Amino acid sequence: MGQDLVQILPATSVSALGQPQPASSPAREQTCQKSFYIETFGCQMNVHDSEKVAGVLLAKGYRPVEDSASADLILYNTCSIREKAAQKVFSRLGAFKKGYRGDAKTIGVLGCVAQQEGTRIFDRAPQVSLVCGSASYASLGGLIDRLERGERRVSGLSLDTDECFETELTRRDHPYRAYLTIIEGCNRACSYCVVPKTRGPERSRPSGRILAEARRLVNEGATEIQLLGQTVNSYHDSSPSRLSFSELLLRVAEIPGLRRLRFTTSHPSDFSSDIVQAIDAQPVLCNHIHLPVQSGSSRVLERMRRTYTREEYLEKIGCVRKAQRAISVSTDIIVGFCGETEDDFEQTLGLLDLVQYDQVFSFKYSVRPRTEAGSMEDTVPDEEKGQRLTVLQEKQRQIQLRRNQGLIGREYEVLVENFQAKLGQCVGRTSDNHVINFPGEPGWTGNYLGVKVMSAGPNSLVGVRTGGNNGSGNENPNADDGPRH
Ligand code: 5AD
Ligand code: SF4
Repeated sequence: MGQDLVQILPATSVSALGQPQPASSPAREQTCQKSFYIETFGCQMNVHDSEKVAGVLLAKGYRPVEDSASADLILYNTCSIREKAAQKVFSRLGAFKKGYRGDAKTIGVLGCVAQQEGTRIFDRAPQVSLVCGSASYASLGGLIDRLERGERRVSGLSLDTDECFETELTRRDHPYRAYLTIIEGCNRACSYCVVPKTRGPERSRPSGRILAEARRLVNEGATEIQLLGQTVNSYHDSSPSRLSFSELLLRVAEIPGLRRLRFTTSHPSDFSSDIVQAIDAQPVLCNHIHLPVQSGSSRVLERMRRTYTREEYLEKIGCVRKAQRAISVSTDIIVGFCGETEDDFEQTLGLLDLVQYDQVFSFKYSVRPRTEAGSMEDTVPDEEKGQRLTVLQEKQRQIQLRRNQGLIGREYEVLVENFQAKLGQCVGRTSDNHVINFPGEPGWTGNYLGVKVMSAGPNSLVGVRTGGNNGSGNENPNADDGPRH
């Protein structure tokens, strides 16, 4: 998880299978040409859910637009993992109340807030006609049909599913980087976390379907795949193949034409040495692991119901550090959890020194409804949480700056993800998840290039192209493995 993204799907006309589709295609002529707009809050899981929802709408003949004002159907795919994220959605809906003109627009709330608030949203925001939680996306098409037939309010809120929402229609935003869900929901019970309530129990997809989808994605041009799950490494293959998570990683990585395979988010309790061995054995597996620790104090971890101690977590890190490849590690940390003392917080700071993370996503604890911690005393005042967050972030900033400066002079193979026309800069990513900016051209997007690091800040690197690799073939897959930590 980690990153908080707010994303609006671009308006480019893309068919269900990701191919550009002419405006006058037969599929479009026979349809109503209604337009839709989706705004996504939250993590990669939510971004990918929106890609699936967009696929369903495109197949129904809707066309995407870039602003809510010109859309017939407005969807907010929401996140409620922290209080702030949930509030954002209601402020969006509030802004709409003013300009709302009877039945001219249909407004829907999807995702975690939808699941959590349910049909109460209709009372709080009467302009909303559709409420649908992520475990019910398979019925989204039917709900839209009912709205088109004139029903005023429809909802899909059942968590009673043993399936993942998979669809051939998913409309992926990037031609060469693709998300692929392998496990949905969560069976854990972290006391602060709302996810098991909003996404339901854990469901793994059979490995055969995952492999078939991965092959299709590569055939369609993807060179990087990111396997997704709230606890991706808790994967259990229900098919007779019974692949373990690391076996699945290796099988996907073997697909000809795939150059990078990532996975997120790993739970420390299910993190085992075979994952590290797989990364060592297969260069297509990116040398980066996101391993949320949440706190450096065993006392706090116990209250969080994280099911590991500080020492056990550090053992897992030790296993990562023993790898032949230098594997970068990122994490999530919550400060100011119920009962967190100065000493507990100091232990979290000490953990930063010990682990030397490459990236940390840190949050102030916020009480979430229907969680175990919701009935604990929220003892740390907001101001104190804010101060702890500032101290932690400043410390980590120094660590990242020092680590990144140690990379100056190294040559990386980077996938060019973006081009910033204003700056004439390409934005690339290394296998170990460093972002690197370098002067380039728009046409380089999607290519794998050699780039040398010239300078470094705490959050990104600056480099120059060295003329190394290009879009085809993986000439030097170990180019960015560099020195051991
Ligand atoms: N308060 C603050 N942060 C939270 N997270 C999850 N629940 C809460 C909460 N109630 C953080 C955790 C998780 C990340 C996605 O969000 O660090 O790993
Ligand atoms: Fe939430 Fe814990 Fe499940 Fe992660 S593992 S989604 S923090 S309950």
